[in-house]
Amino acid sequence: MSQKILQACPLPPPLAAKLPSLCQTELLSDAPDQAAFLRERGGEFTVLITTGTQGADKALIDALPNLQAICSLGVGYDAIDLDAVRARGVMLSNTPDVLNDCVADLAIGLLIDVVRGISASDRHVRRGDWPRVGPTMPSTRVSGKRLGMLGMGRVGQVIARRAIGFNMEIRYHTRTAKSELPWQHEPSLIDLAQWCDFLIVACPGSPETFHLVSAEVLKALGPNGYLVNIARGSVVDEQALVAALESGQLGGAGLDVFENEPEVPAPLLSNERVVVLPHVGSATRETRAAMCELVLKNVERFLTKRSLVTPVEL
Ligand code: DGY
Repeated sequence: MSQKILQACPLPPPLAAKLPSLCQTELLSDAPDQAAFLRERGGEFTVLITTGTQGADKALIDALPNLQAICSLGVGYDAIDLDAVRARGVMLSNTPDVLNDCVADLAIGLLIDVVRGISASDRHVRRGDWPRVGPTMPSTRVSGKRLGMLGMGRVGQVIARRAIGFNMEIRYHTRTAKSELPWQHEPSLIDLAQWCDFLIVACPGSPETFHLVSAEVLKALGPNGYLVNIARGSVVDEQALVAALESGQLGGAGLDVFENEPEVPAPLLSNERVVVLPHVGSATRETRAAMCELVLKNVERFLTKRSLVTPVEL
């Protein structure tokens, strides 16, 4: 059967522009009635291209009866229905490694911002409060503190290496210890939260990690503790986070991801001890170009060799 690509959503221009040179490509979101389009033409497509946030649900995968491969832009694939992918024997690729540095940079940036109150102080100056009431109150020291990592995969390890430059002591929580790493494994997330000053979430979003950062974990982190999440909103119980911040049980939070993006709960927006970003961990021109290039390589490899450059182990 001849190959045809379906784009689930608009993609960055450099990627979208090159796809038609590989094979015929259609954009699903161009169809005025997407359900009707899939009913009439779903059988034509063998490759689906999507993004980590757009994903691919069971209904979409089922509507593509000849689908053989999904190539996703992004490292996280929690928005893709893996049961449906496995059941259909579809291959899946993501874009690992090329974004490690930029996501780690942002994690450290968020940490310093929320702990030192950079964004809050910026607002203070812009409001004209400096000449009126003086500078902002002293913040908290970053260097030399204890860093707890939830997740110690590719991105987590790059964050930990950056934290060494800040003389931080590092421990991490994962399901299984990684004996090859120089940092101490902590089997209990609550114990890790109790021990550390800063907890950075860097594990994948999945049913196994859903709400791992619970009210109890936030309580253990405590009023002088700070949470940073550059992974997935689903890992943190957002209601518990709001409650912990409002009651002063938690020092502050730096968040690039949320449970129901792009919605951000109003109490987080109005809290001066919270820094919020619109899920931009990998969003630099250089990294996005590298991610697009990797998607193209995966599509090309699939079309020519029926294999993938960066396959997800299913
Ligand atoms: C991804 O690629 O999954 C990340 O969320 C980018 O920030």
